[in-house]
Amino acid sequence: MKRTRLISSLVGIGILLASVAVAAAGSAQAGSAKSMFCSGCHGVDGNAAYPSARLAGQATQRFTQSMVDFKTGRRFHPVMNILSVGLTQQDMDDMAMFYAAQKPVTLENASLYWRLGGGDAVNAATDELIAVSQADARMNGGITGGCRVKLKEQLCAATGGPCTYTGRDMKTAHRGMKITDAQFDAVADNLVKVLTTFKVPGKEQKELLGLIAPMRGDVVGQ
Ligand code: HEC
Repeated sequence: MKRTRLISSLVGIGILLASVAVAAAGSAQAGSAKSMFCSGCHGVDGNAAYPSARLAGQATQRFTQSMVDFKTGRRFHPVMNILSVGLTQQDMDDMAMFYAAQKPVTLENASLYWRLGGGDAVNAATDELIAVSQADARMNGGITGGCRVKLKEQLCAATGGPCTYTGRDMKTAHRGMKITDAQFDAVADNLVKVLTTFKVPGKEQKELLGLIAPMRGDVVGQ
């Protein structure tokens, strides 16, 4: 019950994050080539501590927002304003993917994806969540491993990692499954257990729950 309250209180930030969590359909490989112009100041892998916040390991959403702000003049900096003028949305999406994939040397300004430990950790935690939930009587068999690949992709994209979610929207994906609130709560509860086992700090746990909580309406009762 306590968990349910925690989750609903996080719905606010969750909606905010979910609204920017639309995955960038960029290519890290293309972004690597395009970032050559940027390496002189930001470092080849975006890990230069100056002239700005490290670009390495930044959430795709944050990177793209900064670039759009420079391009439209909402954010003023003479160098970045000029450099961003000629960039297309595709250029920005590609570079967002490239920088999001670079391991940051410190976690300050890093995406939730890196603060959770990066791709291997996100994937291992997802496998564990599925395993724990499959063995959970409260789930009543309501979770199959069928969602594994898409779930990993979705968590990677939503946490600002270098992935594009290619699965169906949550409503369509759960149609006919008749998932109950109790099952949804059980998964959230299992997620907290798994994250605690993986020694993920409370702040990151809350951020992740905040991304998942707003999905309840589309997952339950379909
Ligand atoms: C001549 C040096 C220089 C080059 C080249 C350069 N930048 Fe920057 N960049 C800066 C400076 C200075 C800032 C800090 C601006 C500010 O304080 O608002 C910055 C800030 C940024 C930020 C905001 C970071 C944040 O989280 O606040 C992003 C994103 C960025 N640059 C991307 C790029 C990309 C992409 C390129 C290549 C197309 C590039 N930069 C090339 C100097 C440079």
